[in-house]
Amino acid sequence: MKTMREDGFALASGALTDGFREALLAGLAQCPKKIPCKYLYDAIGARLFDEICTLPEYYLTRTENALLRSHAAEISALGGPDVEIMEFGAGSGDKIRILLNSLHRPRAYMPVDFSDTWLDRLAERLRMDYPALQVHPVIGDFTGRLRWPLAPGGRRLGFFPGSTIGNFTPLEARKFLSAAAAILDRGALLIGVDLAKDPAILHAAYNDRAGITAAFNLNLLSRANRDAGADFDPSRFFHYALYNPAEMRIEMYLISAIRQKANICGRSFAFSEGEAILTEYSYKYTVDSFQELAASAGLISRKFWCDPKGLFSLHWLESR
Ligand code: AVJ
Repeated sequence: MKTMREDGFALASGALTDGFREALLAGLAQCPKKIPCKYLYDAIGARLFDEICTLPEYYLTRTENALLRSHAAEISALGGPDVEIMEFGAGSGDKIRILLNSLHRPRAYMPVDFSDTWLDRLAERLRMDYPALQVHPVIGDFTGRLRWPLAPGGRRLGFFPGSTIGNFTPLEARKFLSAAAAILDRGALLIGVDLAKDPAILHAAYNDRAGITAAFNLNLLSRANRDAGADFDPSRFFHYALYNPAEMRIEMYLISAIRQKANICGRSFAFSEGEAILTEYSYKYTVDSFQELAASAGLISRKFWCDPKGLFSLHWLESR
């Protein structure tokens, strides 16, 4: 199967390099060292993330799924019939199925992801289960320029679940929301946003007892060895995640346990004992602070839903 790249070129599966090595070389040359969090999701990382989503401490996924299910009727009424859905980032497919099952005759589904690893398989399964649905996977970075791959006409709905918006700094988030507002062309955006709360709850969610989040984070180094010609010793790094309440974000790091070096394609990177590599930010919002951010990007909050404990929020935004 061929997938359309965002610039219109059709690519055979696997033909797109995802820039991991270049990002690694650039990020580790910075101070402090960092690796973009999108590289956490190779095949192994995606499997570990799916496991995270089932952990008792990681309330995000199950809370958002419950919100999508319990407000399905209202969401479907807001969406109306025949919507064309663009999902920013392709997940395991669970969430889009909840949405597809509740919407009235959704016309098209366009998952956008920078890696085609999951897109084709996801598309194939959805085509089987929803024969009336047009499925158009789009390979591209949803933080970059996007175009709507269908002829103009249908009502557009953006879908950005999982609080992935939290990976952006507020400035990047505003830019993303503005770009989404433009491409949605007077349509709507359904977006999941994790909420600021007791830091102990947040801390537990990113420091699970089973160590899956640690494995997920450390896989970045194993992946660098597999895919980018690096020679990290992952056993000499540890996972460290904390909630920074002043910035309202989880910060996730890999910390060097000893003074050591790692080589990537002939370049050597020195780590002092205790030196950190930043691997992810996960910003948390209040309902008000998120609505304000959305408004600054031209997206007006039409409706939002929270679980009874106020852990997670789901927002229906309209670009008008
Ligand atoms: C998928 C980006 C929303 O920030 O909670 C889970 C990723 N990182 N555990 C998050 C993640 C560590 C997750 N997002």
